[in-house]
Amino acid sequence: MTLRREENVWIPESDLEGMSVDTLAVRAGQIRTGELEHSDPIFPTSSFVYGSAAQAAARFGGEEPGNIYSRFTNPTVQAFEGRIAAMEGGERAVATASGMAAILSTCMALLKAGDHVVCSRGVFGTTNVLFQKYMAKFGVETSFVSLTNMDEWTQAVRAETRMLFIETPSNPLCEVADMKALATLAHDNDALFVVDNCFCTPVLQRPLEHGADIIIHSATKYLDGQGRCVGGVVVGPNALMDEVYGFLRSAGPTMSPLTPGCS
Ligand SMILES: Cc1ncc(COP(=O)(O)O)c(C=O)c1O
Repeated sequence: MTLRREENVWIPESDLEGMSVDTLAVRAGQIRTGELEHSDPIFPTSSFVYGSAAQAAARFGGEEPGNIYSRFTNPTVQAFEGRIAAMEGGERAVATASGMAAILSTCMALLKAGDHVVCSRGVFGTTNVLFQKYMAKFGVETSFVSLTNMDEWTQAVRAETRMLFIETPSNPLCEVADMKALATLAHDNDALFVVDNCFCTPVLQRPLEHGADIIIHSATKYLDGQGRCVGGVVVGPNALMDEVYGFLRSAGPTMSPLTPGCS
């Protein structure tokens, strides 16, 4: 493995192409400081300093990449994001303060008043509340259908439907969806297919390979695996994740670098 210096950090250049998910879970997304530490460094900092006022202006203006403020980016959190994106086979991951923050951020970033969502009935209870009570207050209506009954899904879709949302396996019933059929239905109707992959993690199931556009995780559960943290993450293509990141940067439900299991 060689190291490439970028700004003040070292990026390991080991070729992770084709590596198993076990290797990706340890190596992907890794950065190293000039100390060349073995494990992932933790950056408990609110903000970052600049070489000059001109550099600060360029960073705030988006003309120069680099850290500004930990609500925007933090290297510890970025390592976690790079790792999950690689494990899920997605272009980009955006980490959040909790699984619910991941679902809320996805909805707020990608839906607008007048849009309609079709969601499986057997989702985590709070997801149900989020759609039924809170998204409804902002003009996003949700229809709930049986996860496994394709007729119900087909009948529920309308011209305004912009998102199909599922968990598979579902919490707590462990029902399993036909992801390919649901992806086809979503894409035939110009809607996004969003899969909460919390129960399986990318170790057991990679929904992007079955047609999902976006993956949600409550990292609080099996992704951490040890009951130490509350966290979440959204994975998908750059164009969609730029929108989710934009919401997080503005609204603030970002992951803390001190989240255990994130480093
Ligand atoms: C499938 C699923 N999605 C989302 C959530 C919400 O995650 P969090 O508790 O991290 O906000 C949970 C929590 O149990 C869950 O089981």
